[in-house]
Parts: sequence; C-alpha cells; structure tokens
Amino acid sequence: MILTFVHSLAFLSGLVFAKPLQQQQAVWRPSQDGQLRDLHIGDLNFLHTTDTHGWLGSHLTQANYDADWGDFVSFVDVFRNKMTQLARDVIVIDTGDKRDGNGLSDATWPPGLRSSKIFNMLDYDLLTLGNHELYTADSAILEYRGTSQSAKFKDKYVCSNVEFIEEDGKRVPFGNKFVTFETPIQKQRILAMSFLFSFQRANNRAIVTPPLEEIMEKRWFQNMVETNKEGDIDLIVVFGHLPATDPTEREMHKIHALLREHYPNTVIQYFGGHTHIRDFVQLDSKSTCLQSGRFAETVGFLSINTTNAMGEDNPSFTRRYIDFNKDSFEYHLSKLATDVDTSASTRKGETISRLVSDLRHELNLNQKLGYIPATYYVSTRPLESEENLYHLITHKILPNLIPSKNYEPIMSRFILINTGSVRYDLYKGPFTKDTEYIVMPFNNDWHFITVPLVVASKVESYLNRGPVIASLGIPSSLHQNQQFNRFQNCPFIEDPNLSEGYTTEDDFGCHGDDTPHNSQQEYGIPNVVQCKDMKKSKEEEDPLKMVHVIFYTFMELDILNAVNSIINNLDLRMENLTTNDCSHYGGESTKKLLRDYFAQF
Ligand SMILES: *[C@@H]1O[C@H](CO)[C@@H](O)[C@H](O)[C@H]1NC(C)=O
Ligand SMILES: *[C@@H]1O[C@H](CO)[C@@H](O)[C@H](O)[C@H]1NC(C)=O
Ligand SMILES: *[C@@H]1O[C@H](CO)[C@@H](O)[C@H](O)[C@H]1NC(C)=O
Ligand SMILES: [Zn+2]
Ligand SMILES: [Zn+2]
Repeated sequence: MILTFVHSLAFLSGLVFAKPLQQQQAVWRPSQDGQLRDLHIGDLNFLHTTDTHGWLGSHLTQANYDADWGDFVSFVDVFRNKMTQLARDVIVIDTGDKRDGNGLSDATWPPGLRSSKIFNMLDYDLLTLGNHELYTADSAILEYRGTSQSAKFKDKYVCSNVEFIEEDGKRVPFGNKFVTFETPIQKQRILAMSFLFSFQRANNRAIVTPPLEEIMEKRWFQNMVETNKEGDIDLIVVFGHLPATDPTEREMHKIHALLREHYPNTVIQYFGGHTHIRDFVQLDSKSTCLQSGRFAETVGFLSINTTNAMGEDNPSFTRRYIDFNKDSFEYHLSKLATDVDTSASTRKGETISRLVSDLRHELNLNQKLGYIPATYYVSTRPLESEENLYHLITHKILPNLIPSKNYEPIMSRFILINTGSVRYDLYKGPFTKDTEYIVMPFNNDWHFITVPLVVASKVESYLNRGPVIASLGIPSSLHQNQQFNRFQNCPFIEDPNLSEGYTTEDDFGCHGDDTPHNSQQEYGIPNVVQCKDMKKSKEEEDPLKMVHVIFYTFMELDILNAVNSIINNLDLRMENLTTNDCSHYGGESTKKLLRDYFAQF
C-alpha cells in the first residue's frame, strides 16, 4: 500500500486558466512527502508517452495507475503553464501504438475510431505512429486522415520512413519527413525526425521503408542535411517507434551512427517505444534515449541543459519514469514553485475524463461478467505458481474444454495455447467486458490431431525451443521475452509497505522511477503452455497409445512441423502428418472458457 493521507492545500488559489477551485479539488492525497523522487527541471524538458494501446480510461483495478486521460491532460497543461512561468520549455511527445489493448479503442471498428479523438485532445508537440496503426487498411486510413492530416497536428506529425497510399494508388508521405521549429521560451532551434522500426506486416495502404535505407537512399534526407547545417540547429530530436535497447537489430544505434556523420557535435535526443519497457540509454556524451513503458502506466520525463553551470559545451541529462497516477501528477506539480499556483486539474481535463467515462458506458465496457477473487500475473510470478495466469489457464480453464463431437472420452489429451494470446495481468475485482479486451480479446477455433503419447508429450518442449509463435494483433510480442534486465546491479526491494511495481535499471542507475516500489521479479515466458489431461496415471500409460493434441487453428503449421520432427527424431515408423490429419475439435474459445470460469464468483 502506498501511504496516503488526505489534506487540503491552502496554496491552491489564484488560477490562471483552470476553472475556479471547488472544495473537492482542493483535497488530494499525495504520497507522503519524500516518498517520491523529484523531477529535475532543465532548460529543455520533455514529457513522453508511448504504447498507450487505448488505455485512456485509467487502470480501474490498479491504484498505481489510477489517472485517466483527462487527469493526464490536466497534468500536461498545468506543467506547461508552470514551465512558462519558470521560463523553461517543454516538449510533449508520443511514439505510437495507440490501439489494440483496451476496450476503449478495440470495441469499435476500426480500433481507435472513438478513442483517437480523445487521445488527440492532448496538445502534443510531436507525434507519430506505431506498428499497431498499420495492421489493417482501415487503421491506416483512420490514422492518416484523422490524426496525421488533421488541422491540429498536420505540422506536428512526423513519420520519416512510412508512405500512405491514396485511393488512386498515389504514394504520399504518412507525415512530415522532418520538422524544424523554435521552442517558444528559450528559442532553441529543434530539428525532429521519426522512424518506425523495419516493420514487415503493414497493410496494403502503407509502405514502411527500413530506417537506414530511408536515410541513405532518399533525396529528402540529403536536402534536409544541406538546409539544416550543424550550426543552424541547437538540438535534434529523433522520436519513433523503435526500442532503445535492441540487442539484435540495433536500428536506433545505426541511425545514430549515420546522423553523427552529419552532426558530430549536436545534442541528439531519442525517444523510443515498442518493447513496452521503461528504459534509458546513453549513446554518447551528447546523446541519450528515453523509452517510457506502455499502457498509460508511465509518463516519461527528460530534461536537458545544453550547457553546464560552467558554461561549457557539455550537455547534462536527467530522466524520470512517472507512475501514471493522480498522486504522482499532483506531487510533481506541487514541487514546481511558481508565483501563481494552479489547481492540478483543468476544465479541459475534467471534460476529457467525462468523455472517457461516457465512451466506456456507450461501449458497454463496464458490463459485469463475473468476479476475479485474486490477482493472476503473466510474468511476475513463476509458471508453477497458483498466482500465475498461465497456471490458472492450464489447470482450471482449459480442462473445461468440451469437444463438439463425442470423441473417445477416455482418450488423454494435450491442449496447447500460445502465451501471446494473453496480453495483461488479470487483477482482482470485477470481470467486465473491458477485462476481456485487456486480457484475452481474441476468439479462437480448436483443431486437433491424434498421435502416440510419446510424440504428444514432446510437442510443448519442442515448440518452446523454437522461435516465437506470434498471433496478429497482440501488442508487441517482444514483451514476452523480456530479456532486458541488462545489468541486474540494482537492489531488489522487498518492502511490503510499498506498492508492487517497476524497479527500473538503466544507464543512469537504479533511481529513475519516481515511485519506489516493492520490486517485481520477471520470469521468462515460454512460447506455448499446455494443459495435460491424462486419463490414467503415468505408470499405466502406454507410450504408443494414441492421444489427442488440441491447439489454436493458427498454430497448425507450427504443430505439424513439431510433430513431424519428433516422429523423425524418434525413428517411429509413421508417415508425416499433414493438414489433412487435422480436424475440428469444436468447443468454446479460451476467452469464453475464462469468462465462464469467473462467472461463477
Ligand atoms: C540545469 O541548470 C540549472 C541551473 O540553470 C540547474 O538548477 C539544474 O539542476 C540543471 N539541470 C540539469 C539537468 O543539469
Ligand atoms: C512498514 O511499515 C511499518 C509501520 O510503519 C514499519 O514498522 C516497518 O518497519 C515497515 N517495513 C519496512 C520493510 O520498511
Ligand atoms: C517429415 O517432416 C520432417 C520435419 O518437418 C522433415 O524433416 C522430413 O523430411 C519429413 N519427411 C518426409 C518423408 O516428408
Ligand atoms: Zn506497443
Ligand atoms: Zn509496437
């Protein structure tokens, strides 16, 4: 539990742009003073969101993340206002993936139809797209027309390596290739670019060029470099949908190497996303990258002084990961001493909170389908733990699968699912329609094959040695192999008085999170998990006895390949199986079985 107490704030008076204070707004529950780590304001300050995936309505069952989009808009507006009074600049950035993950975006077609209008009420200075804006043509059209080409963001939407395809087949840049602007207060000259990682599965209305190819081969980049010489700009901002840490592709590091050829001395600040983690990387003495988590759990803060106190040409950077809750927002605002103090909420923010709440009702997301008596975790409890969500699914949910035909009821069976079909922890509290969108949105059909027990029993471990089995529409399957604990030098905090949450380790150390948390251990997640439904005890089972292997239809080729390889390795006198050997099993989807299970509470 975070220590909270209620007190009213005498200093919240004299408003600049918020509506007059009412009593209820003057009451807030800051985390106890000194509990949170402060922001270190610089000349140039950034607020960053990424991978929000439709989470505009707060996390209703997680106190750590209890702020909704309206609360956040208030925070940003008041923050900006206070910065102006302090004669400092602030730039607000988003790096994409705004749908697929929450009912607010996904209960409409295309996903984001309604939620993107609310998202866009925040006055971003720079924004772009992620791969989740490009899975379908409808999504791409919505993003292009509704955001990139909108009157509000036409000059702020940057997308250096993606093209949109018009109805007539004409290719146009999805957004500005780059923009230049001067910050309002300190008149810093900024050059901004934005790259999406080399995404291969874009729909037929968009073309993604790998970032390096774009830089090396396209004319605009040469023109940009020629018209924006090092001496003409103070800072380069490269924001985009690609990870800060990427041990295999290292796309951001490669972009950086190329930019340094043209701008050897310029401060270059990167903002990243896609892998859903909090991360901060120092690329060289004049360049860092911030990545700000996922799902409106995190607001990233970054500050830069381009020259240090001695007037030397050596920039300094600070970073902070702000927990997305009202206490954190209000705490940080209260620390910014200005002559005119304002409420932490604005009329605009309150309107947006109401719009979010209305949309939630309209889409029927609060509809109660059951109750979750205890929290189940995806990756912060080991697989064999009763608190692990996959453990629940394989032990309590999948055994309830009943085939549509009465296949030999005494036959043992293995039911396999890919772990990517689950996308979030399942928190104690009401099981609503929104819970389904958040945790398990996809319907599935079941196929099965009949093979000897000795083969069936080896399929799971075979698939878990192989590459990731991804299914379309899952936000970044990368978070499934979160091998990003790069140093593991930070102390593991065990303090039950603190709320459970992130303890981030990055290039600047162990204290980036604004809120100290009771640390969570991350456990590796395999590709697939299985329910083993044996009709006899182990000793009685004949290894050559035939059993059923049941799986999601989209995993069929992976399963066949595994089974055939196992047959070959075992030298069994059996023909390879083909899709003709796969049949419909029938029965309810995992999603429905999960709902039915919690309907009983
Ligand atoms: C930036 O400089 C100011 C003084 O002008 C100082 O108070 C602040 O701590 C510095 N911030 C960073 C990030 O170095
Ligand atoms: C938790 O809080 C209690 C009561 O304030 C205190 O006695 C205890 O030492 C705290 N535990 C830790 C690990 O700090
Ligand atoms: C059977 O499948 C395995 C694995 O895919 C393959 O290596 C083998 O060549 C196949 N055998 C035949 C006879 O097709
Ligand atoms: Zn994402
Ligand atoms: Zn992504």
